[in-house]
Amino acid sequence: DLLAEMNKWWPDVLHPNCSDFWKHEWIKHGTCAASLSSLNSQHKYFSKGLELYSRLDLNSVLEKFGIRPSKTYLVKDIKDAFLKTYSIEPKIQCLPPQQSEEIQTLGQIEFCFTKDFQMENCTVTEEIEGNLLIKTKSYYLPLHVCDDTLNIYYPSVELI
Ligand SMILES: *[C@@H]1O[C@H](CO)[C@@H](O)[C@H](O)[C@H]1NC(C)=O
Ligand SMILES: *[C@@H]1O[C@H](CO)[C@@H](O)[C@H](O)[C@H]1NC(C)=O
Repeated sequence: DLLAEMNKWWPDVLHPNCSDFWKHEWIKHGTCAASLSSLNSQHKYFSKGLELYSRLDLNSVLEKFGIRPSKTYLVKDIKDAFLKTYSIEPKIQCLPPQQSEEIQTLGQIEFCFTKDFQMENCTVTEEIEGNLLIKTKSYYLPLHVCDDTLNIYYPSVELI
């Protein structure tokens, strides 16, 4: 019963009509999150994801601060939009600059939540977990934390 919403709000923009992305999210992240009773099924995991996405309303926040696709910004502009809205700083992941370019591409905006789904700054958890935090490759894209000193390009879906 979540399929229509999943297709609308959680699409695989690189491989339309393919469920591999959802499968990856569940196996890699959902099965870990399922240690919480509030997330211990595929239905709970994906519906909570949709609920949080709708609660955060990232597109509207960016829009409100004049940050629109197909344009280039400072990494700080994007962080500040969320900081001013939520008092929380997201972790922003980028695709690295292409050869001989100085512009990275926005790939992912990450927020951290407490186990009862209150937003928190991600660094808190990272400091506690320290070495336990294992960096893994993103499923589709070579994402890495954005370089604050480089500009960031906000792609439109069509250009990904
Ligand atoms: C995805 O599949 C549905 C039917 O299963 C079809 O109506 C739709 O056009 C397909 N979309 C794309 C982008 O291939
Ligand atoms: C999150 O971190 C930012 C600075 O990076 C800080 O200004 C803000 O107060 C923090 N928010 C909370 C809720 O701790």
